Amino acid sequence: MFNRTARTIVLALLLVAATAVAGCGSQSVEVSTNDASAERGAQLFAERCAGCHTFSAAGAQGSKPTREVNSKDRTNGPNFDSRHVNYDDALEAIRQGGFSGAVMPGNIVTGQDAEDVATFVGKYSGKKPE
Ligand code: HEC
Repeated sequence: MFNRTARTIVLALLLVAATAVAGCGSQSVEVSTNDASAERGAQLFAERCAGCHTFSAAGAQGSKPTREVNSKDRTNGPNFDSRHVNYDDALEAIRQGGFSGAVMPGNIVTGQDAEDVATFVGKYSGKKPE
């Protein structure tokens, strides 16, 4: 019934709708649409990393305010609005699961996905110092 293009558009819309629902109160992704790798990275970040990290460029609000942090809170990752992490460090952290190896799971994203997320983090992190 649908031709290929129409089906692609419908799938894209469904994906946007699903992301909006999964976002659950978070904001939309604020990354330039002419940077395909960073844009994919932002989407992946919103899906896989937003639970533990704040990063408004990806609509993520997972870092906890300092006053709410306690030793049992294992999902409180650094806030990438204020902390800059470059591409190489981001890729390293994604592979091994953060730098302490204690909390963040390693290889949440791999291969091209990991590179796209690292590109996004490298370009957009650290832009909103506290
Ligand atoms: C289960 C919670 C959790 C998830 C999910 C998670 N992280 Fe983390 N992440 C942390 C915590 C906690 C730290 C700080 C401790 C450490 O470095 O091990 C951290 C550290 C980092 C660091 C190092 C930052 C620094 O300067 O020390 C990077 C980069 C990072 N995460 C990126 C990501 C990316 C990208 C994803 C998604 C693919 C992700 N994280 C998913 C919890 C998480």
